[in-house]
Amino acid sequence: MRFDGRAVLITGSTDGVGRRVAERLGAMGAHVLVHGRDKNRGKAVAEAIREAGGRATFYQADLSALAEVRQLADAVRQDHGRLDVLINNAGLGSGAARTRQTSADEHELLFAVNYLAGFLLTALLLPLLRAAAPARIVNVASAGQERIDFGDVMLTRNYSGGRAYRQSKLAQILFTMDLAETLGGSGVAVTCLHPSTFMDTTMVRQGGTTPLSTVDDGAEAILKLAVSPEMEGRTGLYFNVLREARADGQAYDPAARAKLRELSLKLTGLPADFAWV
Ligand SMILES: NC(=O)c1ccc[n+]([C@@H]2O[C@H](COP(=O)([O-])OP(=O)(O)OC[C@H]3O[C@@H](n4cnc5c(N)ncnc54)[C@H](OP(=O)(O)O)[C@@H]3O)[C@@H](O)[C@H]2O)c1
Repeated sequence: MRFDGRAVLITGSTDGVGRRVAERLGAMGAHVLVHGRDKNRGKAVAEAIREAGGRATFYQADLSALAEVRQLADAVRQDHGRLDVLINNAGLGSGAARTRQTSADEHELLFAVNYLAGFLLTALLLPLLRAAAPARIVNVASAGQERIDFGDVMLTRNYSGGRAYRQSKLAQILFTMDLAETLGGSGVAVTCLHPSTFMDTTMVRQGGTTPLSTVDDGAEAILKLAVSPEMEGRTGLYFNVLREARADGQAYDPAARAKLRELSLKLTGLPADFAWV
């Protein structure tokens, strides 16, 4: 399949499945906007894509600081008038924060990096996605999901890395369903997925788990949602690897989605009446 001339931003493409998706998109002819927090790793990924005959530009931003998310969006907007696909893939696993940690903005770290950064980045890049319609947003979530406790979203009580990870992943799914409804008819589709179970990546190794699948398995699932013709116009869906599936029930609760949207707008400093379309 070819994806010539189209621009795709994939967050967290300096390692793991994100890196493999970036390489595959480069080979398809896309202009790959590689993102990561580490300059050397990011430049190396972009260089490898170019050496293989593709097109790639590296953008550096640490997603644990909302100010850097804003800088990333500004940099992409400066370089591009349109964005065909945004893949919110960057994330930290449960093993990265076994004890509770906070982001630069004092938010629980996994909620901040895995969910809130993608929420803000998506909001800020929507004009570029609309300009490229039909365009797609893919949120790389997980089958590991735990209901958001709106009384303690920042997990100040009963913290565990696993709980923080699962809550942040379900938050991505609620956001996907909510945004799909808001963007209905705009030509921007938004889907999410569990890419594969225990891929052989840093996150999984750090969690002390024996890998069960490969980054190629996950890349195939992500690319299906991001670029396959069969997904054209399909929106508001959760996939378990390659199959459409049902996420945790909270994702289908409009009240919970509205609560999360209101909270996320507040935490990211966007106006309560933010114009998504
Ligand atoms: N592995 C699995 O089996 C599995 C299963 C379900 C879902 N997922 C999801 O798949 C996605 C990718 O995971 P992976 O397994 O490929 O993990 P990974 O190999 O650990 O890669 C994670 C990527 O996110 C980046 N990242 C982490 N924190 C960041 C920050 N603060 N700012 C900017 N970038 C940051 C990492 O950058 P560095 O290179 O600097 O570390 C890396 O590029 C995640 O959203 C994960 O939740 C994975």
